[in-house]
Amino acid sequence: MIRNTAHHKTRRSAAKHGQATCTRLPDGPKASFVVRLVQAGFDRSKLMTLDNRREQYGSDFTLKLPMYGKTLVISEPDEVRQLFKSNQADLGNMEPNLGRVMGPGSLFALSGEAHRSQRKLLTPAFHGNRLAEYRELMAEEARAGMSTWPAGESLPSLPVMSAITLNIILRTVFGATGRDLHALRDLLPRLVRTGSILAVMPIPQWELFGYAPWGRFNRMRRQYHAIVGRLIDSARADPAISERSDILAMLIGATYDDGTPMSDREIAEELVTLLTAGHETTATTLAWAIERLRRHPDFLTRLVADLDAGKDELLNAFINEVQRTRPVIAMTLRKVLVDSYAIGPWRVPRGMHIMVSISLTQTDPRLFDQPLRFYPERFLGKRPDPYELIPFGGGVRRCIGAAFAHMELQIVLRTLLAEHTLEPTTAPDETWQSRGVAFAPGDGGQIVRWPRADAGCH
Ligand code: HEM
Repeated sequence: MIRNTAHHKTRRSAAKHGQATCTRLPDGPKASFVVRLVQAGFDRSKLMTLDNRREQYGSDFTLKLPMYGKTLVISEPDEVRQLFKSNQADLGNMEPNLGRVMGPGSLFALSGEAHRSQRKLLTPAFHGNRLAEYRELMAEEARAGMSTWPAGESLPSLPVMSAITLNIILRTVFGATGRDLHALRDLLPRLVRTGSILAVMPIPQWELFGYAPWGRFNRMRRQYHAIVGRLIDSARADPAISERSDILAMLIGATYDDGTPMSDREIAEELVTLLTAGHETTATTLAWAIERLRRHPDFLTRLVADLDAGKDELLNAFINEVQRTRPVIAMTLRKVLVDSYAIGPWRVPRGMHIMVSISLTQTDPRLFDQPLRFYPERFLGKRPDPYELIPFGGGVRRCIGAAFAHMELQIVLRTLLAEHTLEPTTAPDETWQSRGVAFAPGDGGQIVRWPRADAGCH
């Protein structure tokens, strides 16, 4: 990575207000979110991807956000590093947050010690050995999902990728089979879609006899708890539970430091958290991967040759570059829990939120040479710095499923390219479209593929 020391914009705003002793916050657009939304033609993605903000305000600025109020946005590398390394006592998770829709036991809803002990119970589920057990299952689901694609026709890849990642997570996380698998497959996408909109939109929590958005959501949530309750009961009664590799079975056996087990409600809330956080994000990244590959035919040829030769370095570099240039989660937030939190030249008051702009950090010309160029080879032979390439956030709240997601991306892409030929395109790049929490390709990541004549050899 080439550092561009000539890039001084960040400090311009700080210098204007005085250096390290500064107590004021940086400038930013004055208009409210609603006014900016109207100005952006109701395209939420234009606001949230913050494309042009660095040009106007530098790396740090303030924004008025619904539900959060005035928020400090940072992408200055040293500050991002500091924020991710901060003590849990200084910074908590964003509020209101996804925990509002997933329940109080969700990892997203917890801060401090409660978050630490819950995360400790979940972490073993994402260790290498355990993940390796999911390898074959992931490839099987990828093959089954792709077999439904008609050859030679253009269609959005996102729905098919969503079906694949949903099945993977239902089997690995819930250990679901049969009737319950079908019921969850039908219910969960609707529950997650409504939940992720409710998480980011200031909609009143009225039920209105099940007709208002929160009413519909709560009804689905009750159905969800009924199904998961059955799954938990049958897992508890399963004499072979110790041989199961799904996360539900693991959580039933897990205990906190004081020896108490997780309650059924906690298990249910954690499982829906994993599904919500892990299903759409991974599917959307896959749709972007297809969108990128079809627009870079020379790279596609090199990648296929590399994979055919049994290598995966170029694939890993490609995944990194997709996540760098097309992050599906564009930001992550923390809430200040102390009277005044010092970061760079800023003093942020208690209760205010600080947003790390993942998209701005990952396109910072000081960190990435020609940052807007799609060039996977930049990652060859290098281990990406975890505070510069941050699609999974960072610090104690870094995505717990990052290794799971990376393995899934590898396996689905490897399966795709081993068995299908992608047709390149000269169509313009797909634009970003906001889908609740994730940013997806505007045309769903259109795919045209043919079965590979030599597919049997792989
Ligand atoms: C490409 C796919 C994915 C992306 C881009 C992604 C991204 C993220 C990001 C940005 C965060 C917030 C981190 C922070 O605040 O610093 C996060 C948190 C989280 N993710 Fe992921 N994620 C992905 C896949 C997954 C998967 C597959 C799972 C589980 C199976 C998962 C489970 C979680 C959980 C539980 C959290 C909350 C962690 C905590 O608060 O301690 N994610 N993810």
